[in-house]
Amino acid sequence: MQTPDIESLLTEKRTFKPDPAFVKQANWNRRKAAELRKLGEKHPKRFWAKMAREHVTWFSPWKKVLDWKPPFAKWFVGAKTNVSYNCLDRHLDGPRRNKAAIIWEGEPGDIRTLTFAQLHREVCKFANVLKGQGVKKGDRVALYMPMIPELAIAMLACTRIGAPHSIVFGGFSAEALRDRIEDAGAVAVVTADAGWRRGKPLPLKEAVDNAIENVASVKSVVVVKRCGPEVPMRAGRDHWWHELMADASAKCPPAKLDAEHPLFILYTSGTTGKPKGILHTTGGYLTHVTTTAKAIFDLKDEDVYWCTADIGWITGHSYVVYGILANGTTSLMYEGAPTTPGPDRFWDIIERHGVSIFYTAPTAIRTFIRLGDEHPKSHDLSSLRLLGSVGEPINPEAWMWYHRIIGGKRCPIVDTWWQTETGGIMITPLPGAVDTKPGSGTLTFPGVKAEILSEAGDTVKPPDGGFLAIQQPWPGMLRGIWGDPKRYRETYWSKWKDQKDTYFPGDGAHRDKQGYFWIMGRVDDVMNVSGHRIGTMEVESALVSHANVAEAAVVGRPDEITGTAIVAFVTPTGGTEAGDALNGELRKHVTKEIGALARPADIRFTDALPKTRSGKIMRRLLRDIASGKETVGDTSTLEDYSVLAKLREADEG
Ligand code: WT7
Repeated sequence: MQTPDIESLLTEKRTFKPDPAFVKQANWNRRKAAELRKLGEKHPKRFWAKMAREHVTWFSPWKKVLDWKPPFAKWFVGAKTNVSYNCLDRHLDGPRRNKAAIIWEGEPGDIRTLTFAQLHREVCKFANVLKGQGVKKGDRVALYMPMIPELAIAMLACTRIGAPHSIVFGGFSAEALRDRIEDAGAVAVVTADAGWRRGKPLPLKEAVDNAIENVASVKSVVVVKRCGPEVPMRAGRDHWWHELMADASAKCPPAKLDAEHPLFILYTSGTTGKPKGILHTTGGYLTHVTTTAKAIFDLKDEDVYWCTADIGWITGHSYVVYGILANGTTSLMYEGAPTTPGPDRFWDIIERHGVSIFYTAPTAIRTFIRLGDEHPKSHDLSSLRLLGSVGEPINPEAWMWYHRIIGGKRCPIVDTWWQTETGGIMITPLPGAVDTKPGSGTLTFPGVKAEILSEAGDTVKPPDGGFLAIQQPWPGMLRGIWGDPKRYRETYWSKWKDQKDTYFPGDGAHRDKQGYFWIMGRVDDVMNVSGHRIGTMEVESALVSHANVAEAAVVGRPDEITGTAIVAFVTPTGGTEAGDALNGELRKHVTKEIGALARPADIRFTDALPKTRSGKIMRRLLRDIASGKETVGDTSTLEDYSVLAKLREADEG
């Protein structure tokens, strides 16, 4: 049925057919998938309208499926719906009412389960709390929280009243938080005293206090008591979650919102210093994530589904909360680190909760490989029936390990390619219908049209590489960059001048003879560290904001565990001693400015950076040095060869 597990250089030749037992019960089997794929190819709008009718409950129908004035799209024009209604209310009249919506486990081991009815009640109450704090439809609410049920409650409460949320990952620093709060003009912030991470409370309220010191838009801060440290509460502005909830009414009808009503903003890194506020709206996004979750994760009522992503990233928005709860599926949420208290925490969670679907990132898989097989092997993982991967290309060896050691060779693996901007999954196997190959995302989801294009915009023939391009709008697509339509057009829709319908995601890729997509990684100055995008410019801006730094260039080098590691080349200001003290200080400085996730793994001091005659830093050359490679390619535009020679000497010395 499947080719043998040989670890060879020809790994990409291996093909795995879906297990017949899985196919038999799949939500989308071969026949259904083929029919829908055909419909999606011939009539994409008809396909998505069918999906919208089948997977989403609407208060009133649309007048038009798509209004497309490139690059601005409106989906399900004129229709009304509500995301929290779809995730909660519509499950309350049947057997799902008292089924677990969220099974939550805190890092210290505390467990809470919220049924759909209980979650609905909490969401209605918190929606009333928000109203009581003066939050109105259209107002932005920033959420800076640990992975606790209150985060999901706050999100759903925002959607209930039509207040777009802007979630900022708890690992971001106060400075990064301030930028995002200011850019979105948030009127309220929901946070916690702290969250548990590796046995220690990670302070959050303190960061919020620093972030909003001089931010006039924020009128109210709601604080969940999670870890219990003393935190200062400013009278009139700060409120305890539990106190406000104690008095809140549990009645809150869902707002009937336009399909294009803003649902959330989520900031992501770009090639320039300023993060982009990616805007998603209601009806199209909900259709996309609900449909893809049902088809790709093969969701069934009996499943316990666990996506290990933090809700602070798009994966958590779409596939911990919205796409999963909208299907009435139980979503497991875990607060803490994968190796606390021991290296088997994940496998222990899977065994104890009977997780059947597990969605994680290649960086995590590589970490587990290094930690040793004995940890997963000491747990009963037989409840698992499907595995997923997301965030970066998965190397075939990691895929095979995942397949053998975690999936017991019986679970299909869905390697899902998508982005913050795409809202939902775009390229993926359908587990009951598409043969998989380790390392390939296989084919587009039905209704999505992708191709590999050359710089000139011509289709690249297999097996050559080129730029991944999405050639028509899709319902979950970003609707813009918050407050910056020009940047939206330039970043995503201007790569190929005469192809106005074509979206450029910034990834390189190739297709094989079978038409399968193989993603090769970013082609722009964005690094993918542990599945998270970090702009080189962002780290450079942080470095040069330090008084002792004259100039800095940041590149990525391949790393076995995190995929990419950040390497910074730094020219100190005159008279500054370049040594371990400055190194340590700069690492701390980047952590303060952006967060530990952007801290360089390696800082190298240099008198000068390699530049073109026009003064542009040649990062290409630095990338080679950082990864210990020979300099290949053209160096004729280099202004001063000795700079390169010195950097090489330092590297070898
Ligand atoms: C970038 C998007 C939405 C996923 C979480 C990250 C890379 C993502 C894959 C995959 C190869 C992948 C791409 C993409 N990426 N999934 N299955 N195979 N590469 O979201 O932070 O917006 O990053 O992650 O480079 O452009 P994000």
